[in-house]
Amino acid sequence: MFGSVLLASHLYANSAFIIDASRPAGKVSPTLYGLMTEEINHGYDGGLYAELIQNRAFKDDTKSPAHWSVVSENGSGVTIALDRENPLNDQLTTSLRLNVLDASKGSAAGVANDGYWGIPVQPKTTYHAAIWVKAAANALGPMTVSIISEDGSTVYAAGKISRLGTNWNRYEVTLKTGSVTPTDRAKFALTLEQAGTVWLGMVSLFPPTWNDRPNGLRKDLMRMLVELNPKFLRFPGGNYLEGNTLDSRFEWKKTLGPIEQRAGHQCPWGYRSSDGMGLMEFLHWSEDMGAEPLLAVYAGYSLDGKYVNAGPDLAPYVQDALDEIEYVIGNTNTTWGAQRAKDGHPAPFNLHYVEIGNEDWFDKAKTYDARFTQFYDAIKAKYPQLKLISTIGNDQPEGMRVHSRKPDMLDEHYYNATDEFLEKSRTYGKNMDRSGPEIFVGEWAAHEDPAIKPWEPAARKQPPTPTMKAAIGDAVFMAAMERNSDIIKMHCYAPLLVNVNPGARQWRPDLIGYNTITSYDSPSYYAIQMFSRNVGDEILNVVCPEEKVIQGCATRDSKTGEIYIKLVNPGTTNTAVKIEVKGIASLASNGTAITLQGSPEDTNSINHPQNVLPVTTKLRKVKTEFTYTMPPQSIVLMKLKSR
Ligand code: AHR
Repeated sequence: MFGSVLLASHLYANSAFIIDASRPAGKVSPTLYGLMTEEINHGYDGGLYAELIQNRAFKDDTKSPAHWSVVSENGSGVTIALDRENPLNDQLTTSLRLNVLDASKGSAAGVANDGYWGIPVQPKTTYHAAIWVKAAANALGPMTVSIISEDGSTVYAAGKISRLGTNWNRYEVTLKTGSVTPTDRAKFALTLEQAGTVWLGMVSLFPPTWNDRPNGLRKDLMRMLVELNPKFLRFPGGNYLEGNTLDSRFEWKKTLGPIEQRAGHQCPWGYRSSDGMGLMEFLHWSEDMGAEPLLAVYAGYSLDGKYVNAGPDLAPYVQDALDEIEYVIGNTNTTWGAQRAKDGHPAPFNLHYVEIGNEDWFDKAKTYDARFTQFYDAIKAKYPQLKLISTIGNDQPEGMRVHSRKPDMLDEHYYNATDEFLEKSRTYGKNMDRSGPEIFVGEWAAHEDPAIKPWEPAARKQPPTPTMKAAIGDAVFMAAMERNSDIIKMHCYAPLLVNVNPGARQWRPDLIGYNTITSYDSPSYYAIQMFSRNVGDEILNVVCPEEKVIQGCATRDSKTGEIYIKLVNPGTTNTAVKIEVKGIASLASNGTAITLQGSPEDTNSINHPQNVLPVTTKLRKVKTEFTYTMPPQSIVLMKLKSR
C-alpha cells in the first residue's frame, strides 16, 4: 500500500492535521449514519424486493400483458389477453386469460414471464411460486410450473399443479434447481398439455430471502446494507411518498396484508409499483438491519404542485398519519396496533422520528408552515416523545421555512458536484445554531460533473454508480458532517439502489448496482462503510491549516480510547500529512489504516465489481506526531489507540 508512517523530523510535510484529544468537543450522534430509500431506479421492484415476476398482477399496462409472452411447443396453439371480466378480487381487477387451442403431451402451450430483465437461476436453490388461477371447466390439468431458458430448450426446475378448479384458488409450488449453470436470462413458464381456458389472477415467484421472510428481501443486497451498519432507515421517500398527484401518493393502508390484496400504484419515477414493499415490509427491513425506522408521512403536497389546504381539508391526512404512527408503535388494544399484531408483529417498533412530507420547498404557494403546524400539533398531542422533522432546512430561503412551530429537526438535501462539496465542506456546519433545531441531511450525494445534474437525461448516459472522484466529494462532506455531529444528528446518501439494466434507472449516481442475479458496491459505498463502521462517540476538534490540500475529521471511542482519523486527499499527487495528536500522553505504536484510492474515473461495475476496494494495512512506529503519506485521490481511515 502507498501510505506510510515517517518520523516527523525527517520529512517535509506539505499539509498538517492537528487533533485536540485533551477533551471531547461534543458527542457524536449515535444515529449519524443511516439509509434513505424509495421506489426509484427499480430499487424495490426489480431490486431489493425479491419478487421475480414483473407485472405479477397484470396491471402494469392497460393494453397488453407486459412481460408476458406465449409459450408454444412444437406448434401448439395459445392466445393470451388481459381480461377485466374475470377479476381475482376487487383489488386485482385484471386477470390474464389463456386460451389453449391446441396442446398435447410433449407439445405444451402456455405463458411465460421474463422477470425484471431476466429470471435469475442459481444452482441448488429453492424457489417458491404462488399462483392464483381458475379454469373454465373442471378436469383441466395438470399445469406445469417451470423455470426455463429463454429459448425454452433447458428446464432449470419444474413442478406441477395437478388439477385446476373452476373457482379462484391459490396454489403453491416449490421449484428446486440442481447443479445448473447460473444465468440471469431465464423465464418463468406456466403450461398445459391439453386445450382449455384458464385465468391467472396473480403470479409470484420468490428465491430465498433475507432471514427467510415470506414476501422478503434479496439476500445479497441486504448483506451489503447491513454491512453499512445503518442506524436508521428513512422511508418511503422521497418523491415516492408524495406521488406525482394526490391519488398516486404512497397510501400505506393499501400496502398492508396479503399481496393479492395490493393493487399497486403508479410511482413518480415512470413505472408502476407493485406495493409488495408495504409498510410492514419497511418495518421488518429496518428491524432486520438493527436500524430504527424514520417514518415519512404524506403531508398534503404532491409533485404536480397541488396541495391540500390546511384546516378541515387536511384533517383526514393528519388522521391518516396518526393511524400510521399507531400502526408502528400503538398498543395492541388500539385499532391500528391491533392490525399490526394481526399482521404478525405485536411488539411496537422502535420509532423516534417522523418526517412531515418531503421537499416542501417546491410548494410555491408556501402552504407548508400551516400544513406542518397542523400535523405537528396533532402528533405532539398524542405522541409527545416523537421528534418531528420539517422538510425545509436552513439551506432554503427564510420565507419558505416553518415559523409557527419549532421543528425538532430540519431535513436538508445536497446533490452537489465533488468540487462543490470540496468547497462547501470546509465551512458546512460551523455556523449552525447549536440551540437547534437539529439537522438531518436526509439526502446527499456527490456527482462528478457540475454540468450534469443527477436527474438529467445526460446523467443516464453515464455509468450508474459513482466513480472515485465522486467518492472523494462524498468523503469530505461526511467528514464535515461528522465534525459537526453534535448538531447534524443523522444523514443518508441517496439514492441507495440502482438496477443497471438499460431503461431501469431515472437517476445517477446511486450507491449500489445490480442486475437480476448479481450486485456490486461503488467506491462511494466503501467510503460510507469506512466512515459508518468506524465512528466513536466523542468528536475531537481538529485544525487543518491547508484545507485545499486535505480535509478530515477525528472522533474517539470513550470506552476503548480508540481514535478514528479520517482524511481525504483530493489531489492528484502524494501528500505528506503531518499528524499531531495533542492532549494525550502517548499512542500505541501499532495502528491500522484503511485506504480507498483510485484515479478519478475509476469505478466498479457488474463486470468489474472489485476494481476499487478498500485496503487494510498496519501502521507501525505511530507517535503523537508522525507524518503519513497519502496517495493521490485517496480516503484514509486510521485507527489509533491512545494510552
Ligand atoms: O433521491 C432522488 C430524489 O431527489 C428524491 O425522491 C427527492 O426527494 C429528491 O428530489
